[in-house]
Amino acid sequence: MTKYPLLIFLFLVFTLISWQTQPGLKASVERGKNVYETYCLSCHQADGSGVPRLNPPLSKVKYVTGDKKELITIIMNGLDKEIEINGEFYSNVMAPHDFLKDQEIADVLTYVRNSFGNKASAVTVAEVKAVRSSLGK
Ligand code: HEC
Repeated sequence: MTKYPLLIFLFLVFTLISWQTQPGLKASVERGKNVYETYCLSCHQADGSGVPRLNPPLSKVKYVTGDKKELITIIMNGLDKEIEINGEFYSNVMAPHDFLKDQEIADVLTYVRNSFGNKASAVTVAEVKAVRSSLGK
């Protein structure tokens, strides 16, 4: 009996938290889609499947859903090394995209981490800022 008020309270708190965080994520994903279409789609394709042996896929790939610092670094510095994804090797060069604003990088990475069958936490502007300054950019 006495624990019901506590349960109701906790339920309300969680509901409020998800109301607070979900629209932020949704808005970031929507902005990120535009950035993706402008700067990434031509190589990684609309569905994130990439082009075999040329441009790697972004769907269910550890680089995308894994460590955020490494992911942000790939966008800032580009990538120029041989990588293997699902048995295919990729060694084309991806140019640095450090000309994008911190907000644009946060949005596009939040978009790719929550599209193409991916589900991962959002990337924030603060996280992008921190990586940018640690790279001295
Ligand atoms: C000119 C083509 C091109 C563009 C534009 C491009 N990429 Fe890439 N991307 C590549 C290639 C090629 C690699 C692999 C580089 C290597 O093997 O060193 C890569 C690698 C990656 C990787 C790591 C490997 C993987 O599959 O997860 C991520 C993440 C990524 N790109 C995201 C992006 C995002 C986000 C954008 C837009 C801001 C973007 N790329 C724009 C060609 C491109």
